[in-house]
Amino acid sequence: MAPSITIRDLELFLPREQIHRRIDQIGTAINRDFQGQSLLLLGVLKGAAMFLSDLARAITLDSTFDFVSVSSYGASSRSSGTVRLVKDADQPLENRIVILVEDIVDTGVTLRYLKNHLLAQRPAALKIVTLLDKPSRRLQAIEPDYIGFTVPNRFVVGYGMDLAERFRNLPDIYFVPPNIQEE
Ligand code: IMP
Ligand code: MG
Repeated sequence: MAPSITIRDLELFLPREQIHRRIDQIGTAINRDFQGQSLLLLGVLKGAAMFLSDLARAITLDSTFDFVSVSSYGASSRSSGTVRLVKDADQPLENRIVILVEDIVDTGVTLRYLKNHLLAQRPAALKIVTLLDKPSRRLQAIEPDYIGFTVPNRFVVGYGMDLAERFRNLPDIYFVPPNIQEE
């Protein structure tokens, strides 16, 4: 059942200006680290769609986009612990420099699965960029190469991230109140 929470119940965490400043810094770092090379920006649907579109505009290197989709969280905020590939990349990853773009790394279960899946396709390099990192909940050892913000153990929504598919469209990032997070 959809929660009765409204936008007014959310607590502002990261305003859009702060998000965009940080994304510009990450873009600058990627431009420097891969100077002269071509990148494949591989977003994880749906949460990373906004981050990928802003990050892509901060990257000045020759780039292509692609998306993968996995099932992880259902309508609840708890991970089922099992990951299933729903959509694979459309283009071959072999010999490409793949930058996997995620919204948030929580338990690491999703990224562990994706990393193994993508490495089997023999990219020239595989780097992970995540806007948010919640290291306190890690179950799988996964170290993103680029991290926007390290966040506390709170459920967040906005800027692509959802609670039961809602709030993805918000331009800022919010904390969900703890009583709703636990439902
Ligand atoms: P993990 O497999 O536990 O690392 O979770 C990865 C996925 O769960 C992320 O890509 C998000 O889509 C989702 N997720 C984890 N934490 C949050 C959160 O606080 N808000 C919204 N989505 C989350
Ligand atoms: Mg995600």
